[in-house]
Amino acid sequence: MEQVHVALGNRSYDVVIDAGWLDQLGPSLSDRKLARKNIAVFTSPVVGEHYYVPVQQTLSAAGVSTVGRHDIPDGEDSKSLDNFARAVQWLARFAPDPSVEPVVVALGGGVVGDLAGFAAASFRRGVPYVQVPTTLLAAVDSSVGGKTAVNLPEGKNLVGAFYQPRLVFVDLSTLRTLPEREIRCGMAEVIKYGAILDADLFAFLEDSVEDLMALDMEALLRVVPRCVELKAEVVKEDEHDRKGVRVCLNFGHTLGHAIEKAAAGRLNHGEAVSVGMAAAAHMSVRLGQCPYKVQERVEGLLTTAGLPTRIEKIDVDDILEFTKHDKKFVAGRNRYVLLSSIGQWSVREDVADEVVDEAVRYVLS
Ligand SMILES: NC(=O)c1ccc[n+]([C@@H]2O[C@H](COP(=O)([O-])OP(=O)(O)OC[C@H]3O[C@@H](n4cnc5c(N)ncnc54)[C@H](O)[C@@H]3O)[C@@H](O)[C@H]2O)c1
Ligand SMILES: [Zn+2]
Repeated sequence: MEQVHVALGNRSYDVVIDAGWLDQLGPSLSDRKLARKNIAVFTSPVVGEHYYVPVQQTLSAAGVSTVGRHDIPDGEDSKSLDNFARAVQWLARFAPDPSVEPVVVALGGGVVGDLAGFAAASFRRGVPYVQVPTTLLAAVDSSVGGKTAVNLPEGKNLVGAFYQPRLVFVDLSTLRTLPEREIRCGMAEVIKYGAILDADLFAFLEDSVEDLMALDMEALLRVVPRCVELKAEVVKEDEHDRKGVRVCLNFGHTLGHAIEKAAAGRLNHGEAVSVGMAAAAHMSVRLGQCPYKVQERVEGLLTTAGLPTRIEKIDVDDILEFTKHDKKFVAGRNRYVLLSSIGQWSVREDVADEVVDEAVRYVLS
C-alpha cells in the first residue's frame, strides 16, 4: 500500500493507494475512527452497479450499522444545485438524529466527489467525508485538495467550498471497468503533473505511458502516488488558491477550457486540456521561455498516450472569446501557465493577444 500524507494542520489526511483492496475500506475507516454508525454512500448508477455492494459489505463488516446509498446521475450537468438540494435532503432523512453524525463516502469520479464533498461541507455545517475515487482523474486530481462545488447555468464550479476529506481511499483495480476514453482523460492530468512539476515523472511516463494505459498495476502504483504527492505539495503551499501556487495546476486549462466549450461536446475535458497543453507549450517557446525540444516532448508524450494535440473545425474567434470568460481572467488579461523546462512552470500575465492567437491557430492546423 502506498500512502501520501496531505499536511494541512488540523485538516491533514492520508491518501492510501493500492490495487484490489476495496474490502479494506471498512478497516481503513475503523483505523481512523470513521466507521461511525451511519455511513451515507454517494455514488452514480454505473459506479454503484459495480462497487456499491462490496463497499456496503466492507463497511458492515467493520461494524457500521446503517449504510445508505444515494445516486447522483451521470454527467457534468448533474453537478447542479438541484442535485445538491436532493443530496442534502436525502442526508437529512438518512440521518435525522442530530446527536449522530453521519460520514459521507463519495464513491465515483469527480462529479460524485465534487457534489458529495459540497453536500458534506454544508450538511449541518459540515460532516466528515471520505473520497473513494474510481476514475484516474479523480484519483490523481479531484479527490485531493478539498475543492468541492456544483455548477450554475452561469458557469462551472461557481458554488462550493474548500472542505478537506478525512481520507482518500484509492483502489486502482476499479479503473478496470472505466471506459478507455476516461482513462486517457485522466492521463492528460498525469502528463500535466510531469510537465509542470517533475522531470523524472515525465521521463518515466515517456517510457511507460502505454503500460499505464493498459492498466499495468505496477506502473500505476508508481505514478498515481507520485501525482498525489505533487498535488499535495501544491495544496499545502496554497490551500485556498490565493497565493499563486495552485494556479500551476491550470497548465493547459485556460485554452483547454475555451477549446472544450468551442468544440461543443466533441472533446472531453482531458482531450481539450491535451490540446490546451500543446498550445501552452507553443506559447512557451514563442515567448522564449523554453527551447522547442520541450514542446516536442510534451506533444510527443500526449500523442503516445492517444491524446489529441490538434483540433479541426472550430472557430479561432470562438476560442479567443471564451478565454475571456475564464475565471482566471482578470483586468482584461489571462494568466497563462507556461513551461520553463520539463518539470518547471512559470506564469505570465502579459501574454500579447497575438501570441495567444498564434498558439490557437497552431493547434487548429
Ligand atoms: N475538485 C477538484 O479539485 C477537481 C479537479 C479536477 C476536476 N474536477 C471535476 O471532476 C469532474 C470530472 O471528473 P471525472 O473525470 O472523474 O468524470 P466523471 O465523474 O463524470 O466520471 C466519468 C464517467 O465514468 C464513470 N465511471 C466512474 N468510475 C467508473 C468506474 N470505475 N468504472 C466504470 N465507470 C466509471 C462515471 O459514471 C462517468 O460516466 C468535473 O466536474 C470537474 O469539474 C474537480
Ligand atoms: Zn483538468
